[in-house]
Amino acid sequence: MIAPTPVQVQASNSSNELYLRKARAVATTEDCRALYEKWAATYEQEVGDSAQEYVAPVLVAQAAIEHLSNPSKSVILDAGCGTGLVGVALGMARPKAIDGVDLSPAMLAIARKTGLYRDLTVADMNAPIEKADKTYDLVSCVGTFTLGHVGPDPALRELVRVTKNGGFVVSTILSQIWVPGGFKAEVEKLVEQGLVRVVTDELIDYVKGHGDKAVLLILEKIDRD
Ligand SMILES: C[S@@+](CC[C@H](N)C(=O)[O-])C[C@H]1O[C@@H](n2cnc3c(N)ncnc32)[C@H](O)[C@@H]1O
Repeated sequence: MIAPTPVQVQASNSSNELYLRKARAVATTEDCRALYEKWAATYEQEVGDSAQEYVAPVLVAQAAIEHLSNPSKSVILDAGCGTGLVGVALGMARPKAIDGVDLSPAMLAIARKTGLYRDLTVADMNAPIEKADKTYDLVSCVGTFTLGHVGPDPALRELVRVTKNGGFVVSTILSQIWVPGGFKAEVEKLVEQGLVRVVTDELIDYVKGHGDKAVLLILEKIDRD
């Protein structure tokens, strides 16, 4: 996992801002889980606040839908699904099924209420995921490659592993950690090994109200069979 840069939590009138800042200051996976267990009930209210403008879920889902050649037959994994903001946006394409994994049972409990996910399971993406190889047409991962959350190794390789040949991994990586966090280097390794092709690695708005940007990383899994 990426060691977070210590963040000074500034005095603020907004408890929303406090949670967003705290989330990027967690030191361990266990601290991260504990934070989201507390945050789950108010997460959507906070990130949806006009002062934060967390636009990534909708932007990424729109980009992902463009890569579904046959949406009604597509099976998707939403990795680090949280409360299901990405699943709700992906649901617009009426895919065959969306599964979700996340570290926090409380976040998953809210995702379950959307009724959009076929299967929701607790998983730590800093370790191998318990999903079979080549299961999904598309894997999304939004807001989870950020400070103190999930690092590039083994997560990126795992997301590629569970993607079908010719399928896509569509993710965000907080811009500050794209190079220093080892994400760019890990993608280069996957490319060198002939596992993926980089479709895009452009900067997009993320938590727009804070001026945050993320790399929108879209990888196509190369058909090696
Ligand atoms: C900022 S939220 C993003 C949730 C959702 N994708 C969205 O865009 O609203 C980050 C999510 O990553 C999850 N997470 C953090 N560390 C994780 C880990 N090691 N494995 C799996 N999920 C993790 C958290 O529980 C949380 O739901």
